[in-house]
Amino acid sequence: CDTQKYRMKSSERWSKATSIFKEFEEQCATPIGRLRQVADAMTAEMHAGLASEGDSKLKMLNSYVDNLPTGDEHGLFYALDLGGTNFRVLRVQLGGRDGRVAKQECTEVSIPPELMTATSSELFDFIAKELERFIATEGEGFFLPPGGQRELGFTFSFPVKQLSISSGTLIRWTKGFSIDDAVDKDVVVELTKSLDRQGIDMRVAALVNDTIGTLAGGKYLNNDVAAAVILGTGTNAAYVERAHAIPKSGEMVINTEWGNFRSSHLPVTEYDQALDQDSLNVGEQIFEKIISGMYLGDIVRRVLCKMAEEAGFFGDIVPPKLKTRFILRTPEMCAMHHDTSPDLAVVGSKLEDIFGISDTSFEIRRVIVELCNIVATRAARLSAAGILGILKKMGKNTVKEGEKQRTVVAVDGGLFEHYTKFRSCLKSTLNELLGDEVAHTVVIEHANDGSGIGAALLAASHSQYPEV
Ligand code: GLC
Repeated sequence: CDTQKYRMKSSERWSKATSIFKEFEEQCATPIGRLRQVADAMTAEMHAGLASEGDSKLKMLNSYVDNLPTGDEHGLFYALDLGGTNFRVLRVQLGGRDGRVAKQECTEVSIPPELMTATSSELFDFIAKELERFIATEGEGFFLPPGGQRELGFTFSFPVKQLSISSGTLIRWTKGFSIDDAVDKDVVVELTKSLDRQGIDMRVAALVNDTIGTLAGGKYLNNDVAAAVILGTGTNAAYVERAHAIPKSGEMVINTEWGNFRSSHLPVTEYDQALDQDSLNVGEQIFEKIISGMYLGDIVRRVLCKMAEEAGFFGDIVPPKLKTRFILRTPEMCAMHHDTSPDLAVVGSKLEDIFGISDTSFEIRRVIVELCNIVATRAARLSAAGILGILKKMGKNTVKEGEKQRTVVAVDGGLFEHYTKFRSCLKSTLNELLGDEVAHTVVIEHANDGSGIGAALLAASHSQYPEV
């Protein structure tokens, strides 16, 4: 770095930093009128996606789920949830005395980062090994029908063109995964090959997206659930489509793949553009890159980096770690944003731990909290606009005479679950968009690990042992 450049007076630095900050803040603005435009564009793209075969921004994928769980599901089922930095394996005994989940156990394993860009068989072999380990711990309270084969619901949270409830080809990877040889392959066939190699006798009875699993799991507990949204590493939404609206088939649960939504109404900044250019999927998943947990921390880092480079925000030297992509993760950003200590000590210690920046002033820390607020607020408000788009598509954005039914949107994902300010901003924005009367009929409900249970339930309703 050219240190000369940073020999600015501290007042000059501060004013340059302030102008970078202000410009970013303005570009991220999400006034209510703009959110309405985003919601309308989302609804329009949903229509376009349903009408076309594949060339629209929103894929509107048919899930082949035409019956959501009823509560009559019985038996032992496994679920495997792959879609972020961790994968989870679950086993449930369905059909307890109250007709619900009698027993459940689960485990979570983090995916070695190198496997996210390795080969299909390396990834699935790793998963099969972990699955085998988990099956070995099956104990009391789980009952496999005599001579029966174990069955699995596979939650695979990437865009998949379903061929049936239990097969589908990967359209493309998202969220930092990039395994070329898996694209266009049937992921159930790939998983089954690995299960066979591992000597696991298990049948994949259902292949579902996490949004579909969340919708199924949510509906099992609450009959008013009509849509599901994931706000985690990535973001996506699914909903129950009315029969006549699908030229492609009958009534279905649709996976919108809204992460790939894009519109001139979206507030996209130079930092978002640079993040996109540096990503593994340039030009794709633009909505996801502005909203979801994988990216929010990195947007904050990029703004800080520019402030350091052009305004000497952290002194004469640009702290080298500020240039490392994804070094600031969203949970750390969240911790800084929620720092309530009078001297913003959490911000201070995170800056030290993550970037090696010590002795920051209170003013600097305050700016950083504000930056987190700008990025999280934009994400939360745009998520609310997306939900309004879905409600509009379902015709649930108005209250009809005499209609009392509530519309419940089941929401899951670490960003929604753990980022309190994000969650409350999303809810208040949605209320603002809907207006009081309608807001009373729409409930945003946290569906904790709905997607795992949902996949197991869908495996149950597509089991080879329907009578058990
Ligand atoms: C990404 C995937 C999508 C998934 C979402 C949330 O957007 O493409 O399938 O549902 O992340 O995990």
